[in-house]
Amino acid sequence: MGQYERHVFVCTSGSTCPGQGGDLVFATLKKGAAAAGLHGIVRVNHSGCMGQCGNGPMVAVYPEAVWYSHVDVPGAERILHDHLIGGQIVEDYRYVASPGDNKLPK
Ligand code: FES
Repeated sequence: MGQYERHVFVCTSGSTCPGQGGDLVFATLKKGAAAAGLHGIVRVNHSGCMGQCGNGPMVAVYPEAVWYSHVDVPGAERILHDHLIGGQIVEDYRYVASPGDNKLPK
């Protein structure tokens, strides 16, 4: 196991996720995890581009290696409560794509 039970990455500095609400998703997860008493257990970090531009905001959760796409604030709240607290993957937002880059045309 790493330093945290879960490590969450939110794309906030690529070419599309910031304009789609990535910062709001980050803040929702960061503040929500702290409010839930997960400090030191779940780490929420900013991320650069994940190579999935246009599908965001993107969120990745490890160690499960589950990626989420088109995450909005309600989605971030579900990821917080269902996945980070409850351990259940949020299938409605789960990202399924071919391995590697999957950037949508601008
Ligand atoms: S900008 Fe978020 S995946 Fe590229």
